[in-house]
Amino acid sequence: MSAEPAAAGPVGGHVLILGGTTEARRLAEALARGSSYRVTTSLAGRVAAPVLPPGGTRIGGFGGVAGLAAWIGAHGVTRVVDATHPFAERMSFNAAGAAALSGVPLLALRRPGWEPGPGDAWTLADSLAGAAALLPGLGRRAFLTTGRMGLHTFADLDGVWFLVRSVDPPAGPVPAHLEVLLDRGPFTLDGERELLARHRIDVLVTKDSGGSATAPKLAAAREAGLPVLVVRRPPVPEGVPEADSVPAALDWLRQHT
Ligand SMILES: NC(=O)c1ccc[n+]([C@@H]2O[C@H](COP(=O)([O-])OP(=O)(O)OC[C@H]3O[C@@H](n4cnc5c(N)ncnc54)[C@H](OP(=O)(O)O)[C@@H]3O)[C@@H](O)[C@H]2O)c1
Repeated sequence: MSAEPAAAGPVGGHVLILGGTTEARRLAEALARGSSYRVTTSLAGRVAAPVLPPGGTRIGGFGGVAGLAAWIGAHGVTRVVDATHPFAERMSFNAAGAAALSGVPLLALRRPGWEPGPGDAWTLADSLAGAAALLPGLGRRAFLTTGRMGLHTFADLDGVWFLVRSVDPPAGPVPAHLEVLLDRGPFTLDGERELLARHRIDVLVTKDSGGSATAPKLAAAREAGLPVLVVRRPPVPEGVPEADSVPAALDWLRQHT
């Protein structure tokens, strides 16, 4: 599915935003407010009813590095901003490969990760599989907020009850004991407190997604004295410059025009 973007005013180039995050939407909104770029945001198509940004949109995979490079060439893309989620590792590596093939500058827009504060009891895992191995040692009633896509990783943990929160219902293998809560952030501290208490949660599992929309769960866990199992981020591909905010990404675009 695609909608061709309408260029407003003089065209400063075609920016492809690899999206699926609040930052990607904010960047598209900022560029729609009077910039001279033509903008297309690309979404993977994982969410049934995505919040669409202004400008052009296209939905669905490109077909790996070669497919993305072909799309960049066919649509006259002059800049790529990888504003995918910090855990969308494959897409970020595809973007790095396709940008190198096409000779088009690429920026990774990544919101800062979370840091533990006083009173936090965090255990770090290098992957979802690592988190699944550590979880039974930390609790028996887990609030799992790592998304529905990796849920199969926890499917064999029969001794743990899960409260799973995701935007769309999970598919594929899931843990034997679970309740699914369909919801989309932002979430409030009051809401998270209430959720932890109502479900007698004794451990929180999260990716280090960063950002404010889903951070209240960390404060609620701290208040309740709960352990938090945090999955570390994969690295940004080597050599790709990073911006940690939408204004910083706009600066990069200005410098690369
Ligand atoms: N992983 C998370 O925790 C998470 C959380 C919130 C939102 N998201 C968003 O959900 C989407 C999918 O995440 P993921 O972790 O499944 O990605 P992934 O594992 O890195 O990517 C798998 C494949 O999905 C396609 N794809 C991913 N992002 C795309 C995009 N923005 N536009 C077009 N195709 C895309 C690509 O297919 P082709 O190889 O065919 O091009 C890619 O190879 C991303 O847009 C991401 O920003 C992810």
